[in-house]
Amino acid sequence: MLLLTRSDVKRAVTMAEAIEAAEAGLAAYSAGEAKVPVRTPVNTAGGVGLFMPGLIESRGAMGIKIVSVFAGNVSRGLPTVTALMVLNDVETGEPLVAMEAAYLTALRTGAAAGVAAKHLVRHNARTAVIFGAGAQARTQLLGLAAVREIEKAYVFDTNAEAAERFSAEMATQIGVMIVPGRSGSSASDADRIAAAIAEADVIIAATTSKTPVFDGRLVKPGTHVTGIGSYAPDMQELDENLVMRADLFFCDTKEGAWAEAGDLLKPLSKGVIARDRVNGELGDLVLGRRTGRTNDQQVTIYKGVGLAALDLATAKLVYDKAIKQEMGIRVDMLS
Ligand SMILES: NC(=O)c1ccc[n+]([C@@H]2O[C@H](COP(=O)([O-])OP(=O)(O)OC[C@H]3O[C@@H](n4cnc5c(N)ncnc54)[C@H](O)[C@@H]3O)[C@@H](O)[C@H]2O)c1
Repeated sequence: MLLLTRSDVKRAVTMAEAIEAAEAGLAAYSAGEAKVPVRTPVNTAGGVGLFMPGLIESRGAMGIKIVSVFAGNVSRGLPTVTALMVLNDVETGEPLVAMEAAYLTALRTGAAAGVAAKHLVRHNARTAVIFGAGAQARTQLLGLAAVREIEKAYVFDTNAEAAERFSAEMATQIGVMIVPGRSGSSASDADRIAAAIAEADVIIAATTSKTPVFDGRLVKPGTHVTGIGSYAPDMQELDENLVMRADLFFCDTKEGAWAEAGDLLKPLSKGVIARDRVNGELGDLVLGRRTGRTNDQQVTIYKGVGLAALDLATAKLVYDKAIKQEMGIRVDMLS
């Protein structure tokens, strides 16, 4: 069996390659070809282990992702979220690889947003506004920059230092001008955010917020909005105004979004939207069963909650490329 660390996973695939794998995973899911049983949570006194198995037979990808979320780890100087992905051989069942999966998750979430951007973001988009400056925000920007020529990005975080760190790191990594700012409640913070949104071609929300992170009324025609932070009914990043007014609304998984996304469930519970609010899944766009943006005036939304088919397709690509590049450590489990 192969063992791959985070830096192996990072070196093994480019974002452009991860976007291709995400397309395959999303298409397999929407075509009903991926077997993705419901995620099993196991609660402990200190946190939760989330066990997410799945199979995409056509990609030769079978496995499980285990994500642990232990809030108390902060006081121990440990990450709150840790994860491992195991892939098995589809013919023999043997374990093939175990890889670090916190970065894998960020990679596939950014890649799925890259797929959304291909279909929903204007070709002449140059300016992005990002809310949240954490792990997901980084790969969100990478996913967008892989498919559109982004020249400038504003990043707003409630923690101004996190936004500064993001800017320093990402500006050198991808050569985009990045302007950091605080997402606060002062008049000057609000003015800076409003000015950035007026310039934005793309807005990305990748926060842990329970309330909307910007005023949807400020979004100009032609803008695309991606929201990937809210994954529970009590979380919300996109306000109801925006969700109601968008011309197109796509999800990674309709079932998952209607089960988990506060961005949809909160307006649904108020009766201001109905279930026909969602126009389709990204897999429908990849398969050509639905059409994405058709003009430069449409406001579009992509809401992602994550799904095992993305993990499987991306992990299989990482494994295949790691084998080719002779990366990682081989362990004989039967020795
Ligand atoms: N959709 C998916 O597939 C998917 C995948 C992985 C993670 N997530 C979710 O995405 C979110 C972000 O994950 P992460 O790993 O980047 O977390 P993180 O903790 O590394 O970063 C989140 C950042 O958001 C900031 N923030 C919180 N509220 C804010 C607000 N109102 N405005 C601006 N910034 C704000 C925090 O200060 C923090 O810097 C989490 O909720 C996570 O569970 C979703």
